[in-house]
Amino acid sequence: MSSTIQIKRIEKSKIESVDFNNLPFGSVFSDHMLTCTFKDGKWQDLVIEPFAPISLSPAAKIFHYGQSIFEGMKAYKDADGNTLLFRPLDNCKRLNKSAERLVIPQIPEEIFMSGLKALLKIDEAWIPTNEGSSLYIRPFMFASGNGFHASPADAYKLCICTSPSGAYFAGKVKVLIEEKYARAANGGVGFAKAGGNYAAQFYPTQLAIDKGYNQVIWTDDNTHEYIEEAGAMNIFVRINDTLITSPTSDRILDGITRKSIIQIAKDKNIDVEVRKISVSEVIAAAQAGSLKEMFGAGTAAVISPIAGFGFKGVDYDLPELEKPFATTLKKAITDIQTNKAEDPYGWRVLVK
Ligand code: PLP
Ligand code: COI
Repeated sequence: MSSTIQIKRIEKSKIESVDFNNLPFGSVFSDHMLTCTFKDGKWQDLVIEPFAPISLSPAAKIFHYGQSIFEGMKAYKDADGNTLLFRPLDNCKRLNKSAERLVIPQIPEEIFMSGLKALLKIDEAWIPTNEGSSLYIRPFMFASGNGFHASPADAYKLCICTSPSGAYFAGKVKVLIEEKYARAANGGVGFAKAGGNYAAQFYPTQLAIDKGYNQVIWTDDNTHEYIEEAGAMNIFVRINDTLITSPTSDRILDGITRKSIIQIAKDKNIDVEVRKISVSEVIAAAQAGSLKEMFGAGTAAVISPIAGFGFKGVDYDLPELEKPFATTLKKAITDIQTNKAEDPYGWRVLVK
């Protein structure tokens, strides 16, 4: 299809009712959303319309078989009022990688990008300018076709909604290293942003919350000997002055924040190792005093320092550092995202 966009504007904006100085994460929604439908073997009807419920048959396969994927991105305003995206093509590519694994049709980059940019233009006023806030963008695709036969649907929807958002976590995060449950398995869908991956995290995460932690550190499903991700973030561990992160795999999401942080850290002459990190190595480092920092990295949470972790009934605290890597790297990436610093990598995309 050509990406002609049909635009139906809201009659009265809801923006007046939003307190931009007190934004939660992901629960205030902008005026418009974008939808596009896949049926009869092709994408059609690219529409920007008021944010509103979507009507589906109770037989839609999304309800029965969870054929659903999503992305997480952010838009920022710079000091001159320009709208900026961060590595948006990487999100589009990853959406299509997830789509392939979940047998959802590929969305052409041209439809995704032109639709997204048009949506951001219309709801430009919803992009927060306060430090630490941004417009969280949630593109998702799901099976809207009907039937109880356990097979891929014959119709799908792409939808993009946006949400002016503040911080994902308030303050530092305390995590529990998982010994029993797994979020992903070899040969599974852990590398994809499949909705079901997150549903499967809720129960073990709730058990951790009940014990006084905020998040789970996922370990490998087979041995639980290696740490892999931190909730819905990639994980970084600093031992002495070396920053270590797990290699991506079938089980680990190839995070855009993660790969950006690796690049920025290397360019700041920080020693970076991409390798497996064993729980026993982390415990030994904590005991020896060489475990300096742990942090999660992801679009929603940016960089979230971990204050301490629990393992086998013992709690370990991380030291309070004067100049943590987490602070330096968070500033570096957000300065690029918001055009406060040069972007030598070409990651920033201006929405014209
Ligand atoms: N890991 C998981 C499981 C995630 O859901 C996310 C969030 O998108 C990330 C890591 C971080 O990825 P990104 O930096 O691309 O947002
Ligand atoms: C993101 O960081 O954008 C994510 O998708 C994580 C999400 C589960 C809030």
